[in-house]
Amino acid sequence: MQRLEAAPIALDVWPHPTPPPYPILTERVRGCQGLLCLLTDRIDAALLSAAGPDLAVVSQMAVGVDNIDVAACTASGIPVGHTPGVLSEATADLTLALMLATARRLIEAAADVKAGRWRTWDPMGWVGPDLYGATVGIVGLGRIGAAVARRLQGFDVELLYHNPRPSARAARVNATWVDLETLLGRSDFVTLHCPSTAATHHLIAAAAFRRMKPGAILINTARGSVVDQDALLGALRSGQIAAAGLDVTTPEPLPPEHPLLALTNVVVLPHIGSASLSARLRMADIAVDNLLAGLQGRPLFHCVNPDELQ
Ligand code: GLV
Repeated sequence: MQRLEAAPIALDVWPHPTPPPYPILTERVRGCQGLLCLLTDRIDAALLSAAGPDLAVVSQMAVGVDNIDVAACTASGIPVGHTPGVLSEATADLTLALMLATARRLIEAAADVKAGRWRTWDPMGWVGPDLYGATVGIVGLGRIGAAVARRLQGFDVELLYHNPRPSARAARVNATWVDLETLLGRSDFVTLHCPSTAATHHLIAAAAFRRMKPGAILINTARGSVVDQDALLGALRSGQIAAAGLDVTTPEPLPPEHPLLALTNVVVLPHIGSASLSARLRMADIAVDNLLAGLQGRPLFHCVNPDELQ
């Protein structure tokens, strides 16, 4: 905000902590030349047409852009900025935190201590599986998946990954490409790091859960839409899988009465993968850089639709 306020531009800032409802955003964007948005804002063709012909750039403060109709932006000649790279390490840290929290039942155990339910050291109390020495399947070995893989080197895991095509990153982290079915069948931990696209929508659904090991743990720090949440609930209730650690859900937030939140073997976080202070500050900086570049007609620093536009 300090950088934007210092720039020679007129600002219209949404002042509330919750996102502008779509009709209000559509109204407020009319006549704007730039739009700096969050992943909670739906940016579609109708909104672009409401904005009018002066809209020159959409700059999102996030790496994922599944809330934005990028094809519609491209068709209108509008570059879309995003913030890759600077949040990979923070998101990988959180992924490891979720792996350990679910396997070693940290949230459940800490809640028991606070509620006075811890009475004695118990040989079988709060036991769970090891991350050390486990087989970990990474779905999407991109920037974040590779950062997760680097961290796991210290846990002596066997690393499998699945991408549509084998990745050059794999050799550096000693990860083996397998098809998705093999990954699901062999992994003790399945961790999702693919973007949300039509191809990854409900990639992990009932058939995937049937393939997973009974003791397996699912971690999702990507997007809620990659998982069929009803199938996940069924798989957790039936013991088809052991636990889930979710930083992302559908919808966000889940209503407090959602059945997933009642399960002790599920850890749900409020989409905080990138929420280290330094990552968020760098994301904000890049979002401002992209916005100002677009307003000045310069190429964006990180553009989602560069080939078509720059
Ligand atoms: C967060 O989810 C992001 O896409 O940056």
